[in-house]
Amino acid sequence: MTTQAGTRERDAGYQEMLRTLSEGSVHVHFDPYEDIAWDSPELAIDPADPRWVLSPTHDPLGATAWYQGLPQERQVEIGTARMMNAMKVGAAFESMLIRGLMQYVVALPNGSPEFRYCLHEMTEECNHIQMFQELVNRVGADVPGMRRRLRLASPFIGGVLAALPVALMVSILAGEEPIDHYQKSLLREGGDVPPAVLRTMEIHIAEEARHISFAHEFVKLHVPRLGRANRFALSLYFPLAMRIACEEIMTPPGSLAKRLEIPRDVFEQAFWRSPVSRRIMASYFGDMRALAEEVGLINRASRRLWQRLGIDGERSRYRGEPDRRAELLA
Ligand SMILES: [Fe+2]
Ligand SMILES: [Fe+2]
Repeated sequence: MTTQAGTRERDAGYQEMLRTLSEGSVHVHFDPYEDIAWDSPELAIDPADPRWVLSPTHDPLGATAWYQGLPQERQVEIGTARMMNAMKVGAAFESMLIRGLMQYVVALPNGSPEFRYCLHEMTEECNHIQMFQELVNRVGADVPGMRRRLRLASPFIGGVLAALPVALMVSILAGEEPIDHYQKSLLREGGDVPPAVLRTMEIHIAEEARHISFAHEFVKLHVPRLGRANRFALSLYFPLAMRIACEEIMTPPGSLAKRLEIPRDVFEQAFWRSPVSRRIMASYFGDMRALAEEVGLINRASRRLWQRLGIDGERSRYRGEPDRRAELLA
């Protein structure tokens, strides 16, 4: 097969994948008000529900001896704030993603295959923002969401990345992977979270699967077409984006830690100094390590960076493979 024929075939496969994902968005989608029975007794929020207690296996704060030694009432208080803050930050990330994708698609030429699917994705992200905020409101957790520095930068990040579509897709993956991984691990563990939280997680995981597939395929198609210098720059940007997004999404802001009276050393160990928490963090990115390897973004410098940032480790053998070692270590 000539290179040109190979390229055409890859493009045709990519366009077919976009059509399939778009059809999926049309036929399987969720409305935050139609598909969640917020007012049903089953989804009623109980502020004392022991299911607010953080997982000792998958949550870096839940894994600390300090947290585990607290009376249940305090565990519930901290667990509620922690979970709801992560949801609120997740929603804020989705708003950044929408801004970047919107700017990217409106500049595309007519007939671009990405146009339709990206708009489906943005519609879904709008629904997720509404769904997460509704949950935060109903729980009554007055959580701050993202840190001030990111809040100030957030209106501009999407706009800058829209001019660098591959970096935009890598950033989208960086925002989606930690939350998706965290939610999937909780569900895999038995979904022992309050029912309203469970429902939002199920919906989110179902729709994120499409978003993550799209970003994967976009990266796979476009990275080999980058010049050497851009590819090298991207190989370094990739782990940096993962680490920064993880920090912003999964680490509660200092103001919240203070309000919840989490001792400083416990907070530092949980985010992300202790071996258990580092293992949890690295476990978020098994799929990303596999993707970076597959598209040729692992070189000596980037490998060192993955290691230095504490997010290196084994590669997933298939997408969504659970990190058994994180589960065994806890
Ligand atoms: Fe989402
Ligand atoms: Fe998404």
